[in-house]
Amino acid sequence: MKGRMLRYALTALVAALAVWGVVAVHNWNARRAKVAERRAELVRLGLPGDGTSDFVPLPAILPHNAAAARIGADLFTDKRLARASRRTCASCHWLNMGGTDGKMHAGRLTRPLVNAALATRFLGDGSLTNIVDAVALMIENGDFAGGGTLGEVAARLAADEAMAARFKLAYSEPPCASNMVDAIAQFSRTLLSAGRPFDRHQGGEPGALGAQELVGMELFKSRRCLKCHDGPGLGGTKVHEGRKVSALRGLGMRKVYLSGKYSDLGAVLMNMPAGELEEAERAAFVAFLRSL
Ligand code: HEC
Ligand code: HEC
Repeated sequence: MKGRMLRYALTALVAALAVWGVVAVHNWNARRAKVAERRAELVRLGLPGDGTSDFVPLPAILPHNAAAARIGADLFTDKRLARASRRTCASCHWLNMGGTDGKMHAGRLTRPLVNAALATRFLGDGSLTNIVDAVALMIENGDFAGGGTLGEVAARLAADEAMAARFKLAYSEPPCASNMVDAIAQFSRTLLSAGRPFDRHQGGEPGALGAQELVGMELFKSRRCLKCHDGPGLGGTKVHEGRKVSALRGLGMRKVYLSGKYSDLGAVLMNMPAGELEEAERAAFVAFLRSL
């Protein structure tokens, strides 16, 4: 009797392990396929998102559906996406500060939205690989906008005749979960940090960077920061030790770094594999980072 029970228990255990293994392999494959898809998209846009060892210029703008992007810009401040919390996207993502308020919400630092359209990893842990998934999470999750399920929010927009008409023009269909999220993703494609001093330098403008910043730029290359902070966003494509490699483009527009712990870029450098730095080199590094 006892032996039979043991055999049953073992069989059940083996079966559970097998199911778990199949699910794990499936999830892993699905994740890899998504990353590959995003990389292919970046390559199509002429933006090498990975494996570059030199600076890649920031495009002035990414291709986007203009009518949809205008809807997305309005949804960004629309309280119907944030009924419970009354916090619209713009309450936390301050576009004049690189798209972040520099504050913690539910234990997470608001991620910058400026240049986010160039990334292939999203959230602090890099667990999402597509911006539309991050937008959907923000709309639904009560820690963030928390407006309800995507279906509920889209239905609220569809009930507004003027809004429904705008969606029909941009998408040939009324508001629904997927085009609503897409409209915000289209808007994000217009949020690039072009025109910062480093971009003007790359565009060939004499004197856009000072002597100190140029030293910092060379250090950034020679200390191999590009190994992780790669592509046009200078990051946003990799995960290292469970953390998304931050995109450094637009860093000069922000005031708080890492998990909200630092407001001093010199201190942030101590956490990066910069090697030994003399005081003047550290200052040059910081000056360069501010020009981004
Ligand atoms: C209460 C503040 C708050 C509100 C409101 C909010 N966000 Fe966020 N957002 C955050 C925080 C915090 C994170 C980082 C979450 C994490 O690391 O897991 C984030 C991350 C994101 C990201 C991922 C960015 C990246 O590069 O990883 C996107 C995209 C985003 N938010 C878009 C939106 C949109 C669109 C809205 C409105 C529907 C919105 N957010 C509303 C605080 C907020
Ligand atoms: C091995 C990969 C790796 C290398 C190499 C690397 N970084 Fe980072 N960097 C990261 C990760 C991961 C984060 C995000 C850490 C976190 O969120 O806790 C980060 C964050 C940063 C930040 C903060 C950005 C923000 O938004 O708060 C700065 C600044 C930075 N790195 C600069 C540098 C510099 C300068 C170098 C070269 C000396 C460098 N990094 C080299 C992985 C790397």
